[in-house]
Amino acid sequence: MYKSFFLLGNWKANGSLQQVRDFCAEVRSLKVPIGITPILAPPFPYLDMMKLLLPQGYGLAAQTCQASSFTGQITAPMLKDVGCGWVLIGHGERQESFQEVRQQILSVQGEGMIPIVCVGEKDPDSVLDVLDQQCGHYFQDIPEGYWVAYEPIWAIGSGKTPDGKHLKKVSEYLKQKLHLPLLYGGSVNSTTVFPLLSSQLWSGFLVGKASLKACDWMALIQQIKNCILLK
Ligand code: PGA
Repeated sequence: MYKSFFLLGNWKANGSLQQVRDFCAEVRSLKVPIGITPILAPPFPYLDMMKLLLPQGYGLAAQTCQASSFTGQITAPMLKDVGCGWVLIGHGERQESFQEVRQQILSVQGEGMIPIVCVGEKDPDSVLDVLDQQCGHYFQDIPEGYWVAYEPIWAIGSGKTPDGKHLKKVSEYLKQKLHLPLLYGGSVNSTTVFPLLSSQLWSGFLVGKASLKACDWMALIQQIKNCILLK
């Protein structure tokens, strides 16, 4: 049984002030169901506006942050200041070093926010080797209080999702190593979500494309709600 199911919408480099206004106005028509925590991660310039306009029950996240303070960088205290509760770290599209990821986790934790650290392989055959390497480098001596999102790179934006056997293997592996909320990401939408949900392996989903339009996003929330109610 889920306590709360997290749905994190990663807008990547998409959006505009108008899109933020329209999205927030539309999602107001759907009361956030009990047991689901929707979280939105728009690009940096729209965080403040989104915080103001999102309906009650929603959380705000950032897509990354920097641990140093050079020109043009965005740091964890700034993200905390504009109301973020979570920060995505090490997304597969960013190609950051192990060291950068570790520093970002620590700086986000230092501000009392939750880092959601992405792990995942480029080639499905190498999955456990890659996870072993990433977990070893990222999390050694890092205090608890971070979450992990398993995002196979080949599933991001491709419309493909791993089969049940692959996902079970991964979640068992990660759960035996780390005792934390585990999210799945990679082509989650209203047509792929049902088997992912009914497997009960995940505490939430990281959603890219299907978080951009309010109608797709609300359809996903409705499906998760229906599935949770069936349990
Ligand atoms: P997708 O993106 O849902 O469009 O595959 C997921 C992500 O990159 O976080």
